[in-house]
Amino acid sequence: AQVKLAATPPMGWNSWNWFAEKVTDKDVRQAADLLVSSGMRDAGYVYVNIDDAWQGTRDEAGNLHSNDKFPDMKALSDYVHSKGLKLGIYSSPGPKTCARFEGSLGHEEQDAQLYASWGIDYLKYDLCSFHNGVMRKEHPGDSPEAMHLQYKMMRDAYEKMHQALLKTGRPIVYSLCQYGFDSVWQWGPEVGANLWRTTGDITPTFDRISLIGREQAGLARYAAPGHWNDPDMLEVGNGKLTLDENHTHMGMWAMLAAPLLAGNNLSQLTPDIKAILTNREILAIDQDTLGKQADRIYAEGPIEIWARPLADGGSALAIFNFGEQRCYLRGISLHLEQAGAFRGWSARDVWAAKELGPIDDSTHFTIPRHGSVILRLSK
Ligand code: DGJ
Repeated sequence: AQVKLAATPPMGWNSWNWFAEKVTDKDVRQAADLLVSSGMRDAGYVYVNIDDAWQGTRDEAGNLHSNDKFPDMKALSDYVHSKGLKLGIYSSPGPKTCARFEGSLGHEEQDAQLYASWGIDYLKYDLCSFHNGVMRKEHPGDSPEAMHLQYKMMRDAYEKMHQALLKTGRPIVYSLCQYGFDSVWQWGPEVGANLWRTTGDITPTFDRISLIGREQAGLARYAAPGHWNDPDMLEVGNGKLTLDENHTHMGMWAMLAAPLLAGNNLSQLTPDIKAILTNREILAIDQDTLGKQADRIYAEGPIEIWARPLADGGSALAIFNFGEQRCYLRGISLHLEQAGAFRGWSARDVWAAKELGPIDDSTHFTIPRHGSVILRLSK
C-alpha cells in the first residue's frame, strides 16, 4: 500500500526566508549537506525545497528550463536524493511568480511532467499574478459577484495543477500558497492540497510570528493526517529573535501541527538554534500521529494557553507569555480547570526535559517576556 503523503506535517528546509531570489544550485547542495551533518535530516527534516527564482525561459515547445543559477536540475535532484533527502520546487498558477519568473499558466501538465522527470517530491504553488496578472490582495470596490468569480477561478487553477500532478503518477506533496484567501482550510483537501498557507508572509520579528500564531485559533478542526494548516515557514535562527522568542516560535509551530520548514542559513547554525530545531520531544509533538492541531483554551491578557490531544491519550499544553513583562503565573490549575481538564495530570516540562509531577494548586510558572512553557501531560 502507498504510504499516505504528508501523514504528519512535512519537515525540511526552504530557500526563501534566507536566500530569497539569490538562491543557487550551490546553496541548495550545501543545505542538503548541512541537513545531514547537523543531524537535522535524522531528526526528520527531509524536504529540501527550492522556492522562487530557479526558473529560466520556455523553449518553442513550451518546455520550461531552469536559469543559469541552476545548470542541471536532474543532477541536483540526484544529489539531494543520494543524501537520503527529497527535493521540492516552486511555481505559480498565473503567468508569473511573485518574483516575476515564469509561472505555470497554460503549461500545468507540461510543468508537472517536467518536475516528475526531475524526481521532484514537493510542489509549492504560489498565488501570484493570477487572472491575467490580477489577483489582488485587496479588493477595493469588488462586487461580491466579482470576488466569487475570482475565487472560483483560483480554486479551478489549484485543481488543475492537482490533476496534472496526479497524472504524473509520482507522489508529490502539494502545498498551496495563497495566504488563506477564501478560507482555504475549508476546501484545500478538495483540490488535493496536503498543506495550505493560512496567512500572509512571515518575517523574523516576534510581532509578526506571534500574530500569525495567535490567528490560528479556531483552525484546528481543519488539520488532519494528509492535510495541514500552514502558518508559513520557520524563522527560527533568523533576524534578531531572542532565544526565548525562538523557543516560543518553534514551540508554537509544534503545537499547531505546522509544517516545519527551516528557513535559516544552515551554514550559520549555532548550537542554541540547532538544539531548538532538533529537540526530539518538541518534534514529537509536531509529528504526533493523531494529527490534531492545538487550539486556544484560555486567554488572559498577554497569557494564552493552547492544548492538543496526543496519540498516547495525553495532551500537549503550551502557556505563552506574549507580553512585554515577565509573568509569574500562579493558579495555573485553576485556569486549566476552567478550561475543562488536566487537574491532577502529571506534567513534564518539555524544553527543560524535567518531570514536574501532578498539576495542583501549588503549580506555578515564571515565564519571561515573549517566552513560553510547553508541558506534556499524562493522566
Ligand atoms: C510569497 C510567499 O509567501 C513566500 O513564501 C515566497 O514563496 C515568495 N512568494 C516567493 O516569491
